[in-house]
Amino acid sequence: MTDTTSPRHVGTTSDAEEAAYLEVALTEAQPDHTPRPAHELTAEPVARETVLVLDYGSQYTRLIARRIRECHVYCEILPPTTPWDEIAARQPKGIVLSGGPASVYDPGAPSAPDELWRSGIPVLGVCYGMGLLARGFGGEMARMERREYGPATIEIEPSPTALTPLPPLPDAGEKETLAAGAGEGETLAADAGEGETLAAGAGEGEAPGNQRGEGETPLYGGRLPSPASGRGVGGEGIFTGLPASIPVWMSHGDSLARLPEGFRVLARTPNSIAAIGDDAGHVGLQFHPEVVHTTGGLAIIDNFLKRLCGCAGAWTPANVVDESVARIKEQVGAGHVICALSGGVDSAVAATLIARAIGDQLTCVFVDNGLLRHDEAKQLMDTFEQHLHIPVVHVDASERFLTRLAGVEDPEEKRRIIGHEFIAVFAAEAQRLREEGTEIDFLAQGTLYPDVIESAGHDTVNAARIKTHHNVGGLPEDLPFTLVEPLRYLFKDEVRLVGVALGLPERMVYRQPFPGPGLAIRVIGPIAKERLDTLRAADAIVVDEVRKAGLYRALWQSFAILTPIKSVGVMGDGRTYHDVVAVRAVTSDDAMTADWARLPYEVLAAISNRIVNEVPGVNRVVYDISSKPPSTIEWE
Ligand code: XMP
Repeated sequence: MTDTTSPRHVGTTSDAEEAAYLEVALTEAQPDHTPRPAHELTAEPVARETVLVLDYGSQYTRLIARRIRECHVYCEILPPTTPWDEIAARQPKGIVLSGGPASVYDPGAPSAPDELWRSGIPVLGVCYGMGLLARGFGGEMARMERREYGPATIEIEPSPTALTPLPPLPDAGEKETLAAGAGEGETLAADAGEGETLAAGAGEGEAPGNQRGEGETPLYGGRLPSPASGRGVGGEGIFTGLPASIPVWMSHGDSLARLPEGFRVLARTPNSIAAIGDDAGHVGLQFHPEVVHTTGGLAIIDNFLKRLCGCAGAWTPANVVDESVARIKEQVGAGHVICALSGGVDSAVAATLIARAIGDQLTCVFVDNGLLRHDEAKQLMDTFEQHLHIPVVHVDASERFLTRLAGVEDPEEKRRIIGHEFIAVFAAEAQRLREEGTEIDFLAQGTLYPDVIESAGHDTVNAARIKTHHNVGGLPEDLPFTLVEPLRYLFKDEVRLVGVALGLPERMVYRQPFPGPGLAIRVIGPIAKERLDTLRAADAIVVDEVRKAGLYRALWQSFAILTPIKSVGVMGDGRTYHDVVAVRAVTSDDAMTADWARLPYEVLAAISNRIVNEVPGVNRVVYDISSKPPSTIEWE
C-alpha cells in the first residue's frame, strides 16, 4: 500500500484520518446494506442571508469568502459554470465575481451567467470580475501592455452632484448622504486613449453582452435597488466611511476603456480607473479589497454587503449552532449516527453539535491507540462525559496497537499498521453495536469547507480525501450509510468559534494539529512503551513552556521528537550516555509550507533545562531549524 512515488501524506488532522478509517470500517462491515448515495440527505443551507462568490481562479477567492463571513454574512464559493437555476435557488442577496488569472479577452475565458446582469442582484466584480461586470453591462476593457500588480493609492472621486438625504440602512443607524445621479457623459481621461471621450449612457457601439434593458423584469426576486432606497446610488456607498485616498493592492491586466451605461467612475489611480459603480448595486474594483494591503478593504466589503445588498449581517456562531441543530434533526430523523472522536477540534465540534440535535441517537467512539500525548485521553473523556454529558464508547486499544507496532522502524509501515488497526477496531465496535440492536444509518464527519471547495464535485470529497491523504484504499461510490457533515460550510476558525459557543474547553478548541499516527511518527525508529513515555514527558514540557510564553496559538505546531541518537553527557560526577530529544516549533498557514519558529532564547532555555532535569534518560536537547520545504513538519 505504500506508494513511494507520491508524498507520504498531505497536511491533515487526526480527525480526518480517524473519520476516514471509520468510514472504511463501516463500508467493509455492511456489504448487504441497501446502498444510499452519500449526499442523498445532506441538507443545504438556503434559509439564511447568503452571498455567493463565483470563483474565477484567484488565489484570493477564499479570502473574499472569509472576509464576507467576518462581516457576519454567510457566503459560499461556487464555480462560474454553476447553472443559473442553482445560483438563483440559493436566493443570494449579492454576488461577488472574484479575480482570476485570465483576461476577459482570452479565448475561452470564463464568463458569468448572462442572467446575472438582468437579475437585479447586487454584484461586486473584483479585478477580473470587474472586467466581466463592465463587459456584462456593455462597457469595454482594453488589454494593458504591462499588468499592473502591487501597491497603489486610489483617490476616491468627490461627488459632483447634489447630496440627497437618504433613509438609514437596516444596520447603519447613522444618517448617511449619498450622491444621486450617475455622472452622465463623464470623461475618463485617466487611461483612455488620446482625446477619447468615454461617455456613459452613450449607447453607441454597445457590446453584445449588455442585456440590461430599461424596465426589464429582473429574473430574480424583483428587488432592483432603486436610487431612492439609498443603496448603491452611483455605487458610492461602497466607499462610505473611508478617507478620500486609500492604499490598495492593485491587480489587473485589462483596464476599463469604455464605461458601461449608467455607471460612473468612483475611484482612480494615477494610471487607471480603480472603481466603477451604478445605481443598482453593481460595483467593479480593479484592486483586491480582501487582502490586508488594502487599508479599509474589510469596510469596502462590509459596505457592499450592508449598504448595497441590504444584508443585516446576523450570521454568528450562535446562529450557526441553532441552524445546524435544526438541520441535523431534519436530516437524521429517527436514525442512528456514529462519530469517531480523536481529540481534535473538528470531530469534537461535530459530535457536540450532533449530540445537541439528536441526543442518544449518537454514538461517539474514541479509540485510544496508546499514541496520544500526555493526559490527552483522560481530558477527552472528562470533557465529553463530565462536562458535556455526552457518553463516549472508550475503546482502550493501546496494547493491541503497541503489540502490532513492536520493532517496526519504517514510517510508512507504522502508518499502514495504525490505519489497519483503526479500521479493525472500528469494525468490531460497529459489529458490537449492531448485535446490541443499533443499526448505523449515518456516519458523522468533520469535513470542513476548504475540503469541499478543493474537490471538483462535493460528493467525491471524502473518497478523494481517503485516497490522497491516507492511502487506505478507495471507497465504493455508494456508501452503506449517509454522511452527516455539520461543519461542511465552515472554515477552521469558524469551527473554533462554534466550539466555544457550544461550551467546549479552550484547550480542545484551539489545539494545534496532531497527526493521526500520533507519537508513533515522533519516536524515530522502533516504538516501545518506555520510549513513548519518555517522549510524552518531554513533549508535555514543550507544550507547557510554549503556553506559558503565550505562544501556543501563534504556532502552527510545537512538539518534541525522540531521536534514535544517544549522546554523552555529565550529570553530577558521572558520565551519561542518554537519549537526544529534538524540539520542533513551526509557523504555517496550512501545513503545505512552514517556517521554523524563532522562539525566544529564554523559552528554548526553559524547555531544554526542564527536559534534561525532569525527563529520565534524556541528556541533550536540540532545536530543529529547518523549514518546509525542503523538510517536512513531522520527522517521519
Ligand atoms: P508534514 O510532516 O508532511 O505534515 O509536513 C503536514 C501536516 O500533516 C500532519 N501529518 C499527518 N496527519 N496523518 C495525519 O493525520 C499522518 O500520517 C500525518 N503526517 C503528518 C502533520 O502533523 C502536519 O500538521
